[in-house]
Amino acid sequence: MKIVIIGSGYVGLTTGVCLAYLGNRVTLLDPDTRKIEQLQKGIVPFYEPGLTEILHKASNNLEYIDGWDDFDTMSDIVMIAVGTPPKSTGEADLSIVEEVAGSLGARITEAANPIIVNKSTVPIGTAAWVKNIVEQNLRRRGINKAVHVASNPEFLREGEALADTFYPDRIVIGVSSQFAGEVLCALYQPLAEQAFELPYRVSRPAGSKSPPTIMVTTPTNSELIKYVANSFLAVKISFINEFANFTERMGGDILEVAKGIGLDPRIGPRFLNAGIGWGGSCFGKDTGSVIFTGEQYDCEMQLLRAAIDVNYRQRELVIKKLKTHLRALRGRTIGMLGLAFKPNTDDLRDAPALDIIRLLNQEGAHVKAYDPVAMNACRTQYPSLQTEYCATAEKLFEGCHAVVLVTEWREFLNLPYPELGKRMAVQLIIDGRNVLAGHRLHESGFHYCGVGRRDERWEKGYLSPVELVL
Ligand code: UGA
Repeated sequence: MKIVIIGSGYVGLTTGVCLAYLGNRVTLLDPDTRKIEQLQKGIVPFYEPGLTEILHKASNNLEYIDGWDDFDTMSDIVMIAVGTPPKSTGEADLSIVEEVAGSLGARITEAANPIIVNKSTVPIGTAAWVKNIVEQNLRRRGINKAVHVASNPEFLREGEALADTFYPDRIVIGVSSQFAGEVLCALYQPLAEQAFELPYRVSRPAGSKSPPTIMVTTPTNSELIKYVANSFLAVKISFINEFANFTERMGGDILEVAKGIGLDPRIGPRFLNAGIGWGGSCFGKDTGSVIFTGEQYDCEMQLLRAAIDVNYRQRELVIKKLKTHLRALRGRTIGMLGLAFKPNTDDLRDAPALDIIRLLNQEGAHVKAYDPVAMNACRTQYPSLQTEYCATAEKLFEGCHAVVLVTEWREFLNLPYPELGKRMAVQLIIDGRNVLAGHRLHESGFHYCGVGRRDERWEKGYLSPVELVL
């Protein structure tokens, strides 16, 4: 099919590259000329493992344009994948979507019949709203016709974007015409049949479903599914974090508790990793947008409000833990092991690291940071953070009174901790992602402190688990 994708951020670019790889002719349209120039040279403007390789493989099917002049109105599908950032009220800002809908209405010809697809996460009713804008603009040009606008939300995770796109659990298509449903089902047929071969190994996500379900529903349900899915995941993480704090007080271990409850298929083991909570561009924005919409319709979203509170409290808990061990933080040196909101990305949007650094700055602590890919982004996007960026993990540990593991990069699992500990002023590690739990760091002299984990005295052998249970 001939597809135009408006917006070449994470969602637009990944979707475009993957659809091109599957044999479609894809044009990516983005007004950011610099980004388009980079893409034309084969450079992906953000960090996403494997995307560059697939982009090169699919390059014959890919075209990049930075304006509407070359827009092909005879395309089969036009996907809107532009940003919908939150306003200060939590409301999603739809101004870019509105602009795109206006541009489409100013260009679609009498003969053209593209399916317009909302890929961006947008408030309920946006498919109908976009349809109105496009049709109004067409009428102004004397074209009286109905356009097809569908909702087809994206469920990919940053850092796992290729695996999630090629091996999705489900594809949700919200349409109000049979024609639109048929075209979109045909588009995704290769994914439904898993009829493709990848140039190198992209692992199927653990526990994913094969083949995926293609669900065809109304645009409203489809728009809801996206928000409800992200809200559920956000609540699930805050739920385990709430119990992490409870478990810690009770002298238990949240890793064992999560394993135990996750064995129940009604609960499931995924997204039960306790720690410093969620970050990123989606959960905070989407939960905020749902709360805002709820307020407009007299529907208080209490559970979501609580989930948000719990999430941001987890960041403050890091400071509390540091204070418990080090007392005053003024003049102390604290190392941030990781900055990105999760591994395999350089994305810092709503990253817990940012709040933790801000709080440490306020306390008068000296902050050092190391992240394998996100340091440049942090330096340029958040210049007001007072941070000493370190070239290596080894340099980070030098002179620290504590190191906080913020992002669970794979390389952090295999650092030479006993050696690094010797470089520290105080051997204290706050493991914000509970990934060093099995490393027996106490044996090399560390005070190890996870989130929701049994008392460190147990690790040190001062107490037996039996004593703790008693
Ligand atoms: C999330 C959803 O997982 C995707 O399905 C969705 O498509 C995407 O938002 C979106 O709406 O665009 P993403 O934000 O990229 O994806 O990353 P996740 O893997 O979901 O992680 C989000 C945050 O939750 C990270 O900070 C991660 O560290 C944290 N997390 C995740 C936990 O604290 N505990 C967990 O058990 C899982």
